[in-house]
Amino acid sequence: MEIILDSPLDMHLHLRDGDMLQRVAPLSAQTFSAGLVMPNLVPPVTSKEMVLSYKERIQEATKGEVFEPYMTLFFRPEYDYDFLREVKEDILAIKLYPAGITTNSEDGVDNFSVEALAPVLEAMSELGIPLCVHGETNGFVMDREAEFIPIYERIAKRFPDLTIVMEHITTKEAVDALVRYDNLYATITLHHLYITLDDVAGGLLRPHLFCKPIAKRPEDRMALRKVAFMAHEKVMFGSDSAPHPRHKKEAPGCAAGVFTAPVALAALAQIFDEAGVLDNLQKFVSDNARRIYGVTPPKKEVTLLKEPFEVPPSYGDVVPMFGGETLRWRVGSVL
Ligand code: DOR
Ligand code: ZN
Repeated sequence: MEIILDSPLDMHLHLRDGDMLQRVAPLSAQTFSAGLVMPNLVPPVTSKEMVLSYKERIQEATKGEVFEPYMTLFFRPEYDYDFLREVKEDILAIKLYPAGITTNSEDGVDNFSVEALAPVLEAMSELGIPLCVHGETNGFVMDREAEFIPIYERIAKRFPDLTIVMEHITTKEAVDALVRYDNLYATITLHHLYITLDDVAGGLLRPHLFCKPIAKRPEDRMALRKVAFMAHEKVMFGSDSAPHPRHKKEAPGCAAGVFTAPVALAALAQIFDEAGVLDNLQKFVSDNARRIYGVTPPKKEVTLLKEPFEVPPSYGDVVPMFGGETLRWRVGSVL
């Protein structure tokens, strides 16, 4: 049994920089045709020059592969219209992080009053630049995403022409909100389709499954699976593959992030196959994103085969999801 995917897209991806970039970027570029690259470097990507030089480093690290890095800018409330007009041609979206909510987000937003954000959002709306959001408050960890929904709603109502992507949704509340507003869309990760909090902390602690937003309840996972498996027109795949070196994960203060880039397509095929919805994978992993973002990715044909894939225990010092386990699907050819 096999499935052929046309230009799979990963619309939420951390490629990092330096040695880590060299290690992980080729793994995404081998099977994905393009990916939306997150800007939470140290320091964050906040200027045209930083966008362009980061893009060059990614292209250098993925030389020889057909792979288009779609670049993002780290949201700052002080960006003005002229700056955004200038940088628009180099980016696909702007990513908003609440300050301190996750890895390298210290320079994020701490005032979410619509008035404080209005000038930038107004300009983005006018220029047609989508807003991607890490939607969590700093409340109790299980409630953070649900508590953020009113902020999404305020922005969605006030800026009806702004495309807003609720990144890596993890709750049924987010799924409900998504369908209430025409201009809300969402990415869903691989790991949130597979795991709940039980897999992270229900038995022995599994640091390599620790991420933000934290995996939630079975009923939340069910809500995500429902919209992903039907390839609901407002959802798309964004792995949020977030590599950290082993010593940062297997540590008293474990960094948040699940590294899924090298297993993403095989594991997606497996779970869509098990649900009997393999035919919807093309939409979830490519067509919906093309429509939502209005992009035409480079051509890449990826054949997935229903054959065992022994996932390496690590890629250098980075441990992937399913490391050391055997998946039931694998990538066959890439043309
Ligand atoms: O788990 C996460 N890791 N969530 C994020 O939002 C950021 C990411 C990272 O950059 O490591
Ligand atoms: Zn992320």
